[in-house]
Amino acid sequence: MVLNVVIMAAGKGTRMRSARPKVLHRLAGRHLLQHVLDAAAGLGATRTIVVTGHGAAEVEQATAAPALAFVRQEPQLGTGHALQQAVPLLDDAGTTLVLNGDVPLIEVESLQRLVAAAGRDKLALLTVVVADPKGYGRVVRQGGAIVAIVEDKDASPEQRAIAEIYTGVMAAPTAALKRWLAALGNDNAAAEYYLTDVVGLAVAAGTPVVGAAATGETEVLGVNSAAQLADLERRFQRRAAERLMHEGVRLADPARFDLRGKLACGSDVEIDVGCIFEGEVELGDGVRIGAHSFVRNARIAAGATIRPYTHIDGEALGASVGEAAIVGPFSRLRGGASLGAEVHIGNFVEVKNATLGRGAKANHLAYLGDADVGERVNYGAGAITANYDGANKHRTTIGADAHVGSNVVLVAPVTVGAGATIGGGSTIANDAPAGQLTVARARQSSYADWKRPTKKR
Ligand code: UD1
Ligand code: MG
Repeated sequence: MVLNVVIMAAGKGTRMRSARPKVLHRLAGRHLLQHVLDAAAGLGATRTIVVTGHGAAEVEQATAAPALAFVRQEPQLGTGHALQQAVPLLDDAGTTLVLNGDVPLIEVESLQRLVAAAGRDKLALLTVVVADPKGYGRVVRQGGAIVAIVEDKDASPEQRAIAEIYTGVMAAPTAALKRWLAALGNDNAAAEYYLTDVVGLAVAAGTPVVGAAATGETEVLGVNSAAQLADLERRFQRRAAERLMHEGVRLADPARFDLRGKLACGSDVEIDVGCIFEGEVELGDGVRIGAHSFVRNARIAAGATIRPYTHIDGEALGASVGEAAIVGPFSRLRGGASLGAEVHIGNFVEVKNATLGRGAKANHLAYLGDADVGERVNYGAGAITANYDGANKHRTTIGADAHVGSNVVLVAPVTVGAGATIGGGSTIANDAPAGQLTVARARQSSYADWKRPTKKR
């Protein structure tokens, strides 16, 4: 079946008090409009049309989705007028579903029910009963059948008492919807073309108008202010946390957990308070994530422990931590960091674009960038790879079982052979042979007759 989705996103969002168009504010790492587009994609929409107005160029530039088109609405004369702009792009065949760009938590399953309720020949409205209906369009029924939506501004006192509200989401046969849109007027309290007036037109044309109930208030809440955005963020995170706990993930506190992407967990995963997960993250069986850690685009293998305050950002390349490895506290893994099993990375150690073999250790204050580190290497405190010559990056290779002393500078490109020992404080600019001690620093001298300078009078 042909399904067109129209997302209204032309409004200004004055109450956000922000220079950014409202639908580009972020919730759980994606902007509001992207959430709605992802829901539309989940429905398998034939075509998705976004109506832009305020900040149109910025919104269009920031948005990507399959089979996406934009139409501009300038000026904005109401929701009915917004939909009129999309008419030339709507196929007469099939169904049109209308969504709001600022209602980000809408659920695919509710939309499927709505579209099914519309069938081929009905107008279907997504409605919900709320404790406080103020500000919303009220669903007016006669003998159970929906006969109108009355906007808050235009409602009589009896109508204002109706608790069933229109959520702003509807589905209709496209050809009929086009006829109703052409007949809209703006004779109302706001002098706007109300999309909701199609209900009266449908009733007059003998088209059945049916309701489908939303699963609850959360999925139909709109964002109009910074406070509402923060409220929806917490509701989203609560849902994400509950889903994970249902799978058996142990969150120390679901209220102090943030997911801004996809998180796949094995069994017996434990996540302490204040952790943030972004992009695509996989945690193997028995992984423990210490408090206040940040993990983005990374795979952490079974049995690994991430200690508190660790920052892992795999960036575009991804980062990986091997089985039973220990990372942190206060470690930093960047793009292309690939740690083997049982690797230990300690405090204030930065690893970028480097592989570490099984059991390698860098426990304190060190930098490993563009390096290949063999199994069981011990990389001393303060050691660094000098990987950048001011123009190009070069690699460092350290063979298995090598011991790199403290405060060593490895000037890449350079190779330290297997089993080599590098004396502390050495600057190594030439390859160091396997199995030998290499020292490259000034010899220690002592001067018995040396006198401390004294202050001149
Ligand atoms: C609308 C409904 C109301 C419903 C409520 C649910 C109408 C007339 N009323 O009211 O029944 O209860 O949503 O939240 O439809 N927009 C445009 N162009 C415009 C005007 C609005 O693109 O000219 C967009 C807005 O950016 C927004 C959406 O349409 O995404 C809804 O507009 P809004 O002004 O919030 O409508 P409400 O008054 O809340
Ligand atoms: Mg609104």
